[in-house]
Amino acid sequence: MWPDRRLLALFNTEFPIVLAPMAGVMDADLVIAAAQGGALGSLPCAMLSVEKAREQVNIIRQRVSALVNMNFFCHQAESADPRREAGWKARLQPYYSELGLDPAAPVNAANRAPFDAAMCELVEELKPEVVSFHFGLPEPALLQRVKAAGCIVLSSATIVKEAVWLEENGADVIIAQGAEAGGHRGMFLTEDIGRQPGTFALVPQVVDAVKVPVIAAGGIADGRGIAAAFALGAAGVQIGSAYLRCAESRVTAAARIALGQAGDDSTVITNVMTGRPARGVANRVMREIGPISADAPAFPHAATALAPLKAAAEKLGRVDFTNLWGGQALRLGREMPAAELTRALAGAALMRLSQMAG
Ligand SMILES: Cc1cc2nc3c(=O)[nH]c(=O)nc-3n(C[C@H](O)[C@H](O)[C@H](O)COP(=O)(O)O)c2cc1C
Repeated sequence: MWPDRRLLALFNTEFPIVLAPMAGVMDADLVIAAAQGGALGSLPCAMLSVEKAREQVNIIRQRVSALVNMNFFCHQAESADPRREAGWKARLQPYYSELGLDPAAPVNAANRAPFDAAMCELVEELKPEVVSFHFGLPEPALLQRVKAAGCIVLSSATIVKEAVWLEENGADVIIAQGAEAGGHRGMFLTEDIGRQPGTFALVPQVVDAVKVPVIAAGGIADGRGIAAAFALGAAGVQIGSAYLRCAESRVTAAARIALGQAGDDSTVITNVMTGRPARGVANRVMREIGPISADAPAFPHAATALAPLKAAAEKLGRVDFTNLWGGQALRLGREMPAAELTRALAGAALMRLSQMAG
């Protein structure tokens, strides 16, 4: 029934659907639910300690017998630049005053560490069947160890050049992430947001450029989008935003309302929340300081000074400083258990594909 069955064999899933890893808004519960529905669940580890990541994988393995995908960031770590941080705090000062916060109070540094030797040891210990990376691939020695642990390696490409680089450097599957996608752009060979292609243009060009299977991501949120991805030559889809309002996600109540109200034109690509371009529902700080600001410190340090503002505003039920990451098809997402949503997505896609064939 599926036009391309390579991923079903590779991931041992009922459907060629991958629940996108979404750091900060999900944990093992959403992974388990999506896996129970027939998808490959992905555990975002970029904001987890080694201990927490181990605990989460163990929970998944206790509750479901499915392949596990551990997801990591592999950006070049940049240490915080005190001068830029101070400038950024000064820029945010009016918000600190408004919320009655002391800008001099100590804050924890933002915690999005790249894949490192400690996480690599954890991968060797847990041997997840799949490991996916965002922002390229780790250094060759670490990647070699991941591969030696038997993991299938995935990574995101936002332009054809990145897809070719990923294939040449060891990725077994490429996620073609179109500009519609929610969350951080996986870009690593370009910084030009203005030139990021949309999913419809990107997927067939990536499919033409590489031999490995290609997973389409970005703006896919229902059976029509999944069928379209196959028509474009994808072997499967990775879906994030559509799962955000599922019961098992960890999106806060206030953010859930904001995501639920989003329309097709509600999101922007912004660097003000973390220092790297990411797509989310425009909130007050993105509108007033961004969406792109040259003052934002390097990833992930922009998030440090925003953290107290986020916490204080959320106490008041406001999402003025919250990462409302989500893509252009947020509105197509549905509030239902993730297993049910997965089956509904697959069923609708199969129906659409058979209508197209008939
Ligand atoms: C809330 C959110 C958080 C995300 N976090 C991650 C992450 O931790 N790692 C990653 O590889 N991709 C992350 N992404 C990007 C997704 O992998 C995927 O590219 C995207 O969700 C696909 O587009 P869609 O949101 O339109 O379905 C995130 C996306 C969202 C919406």
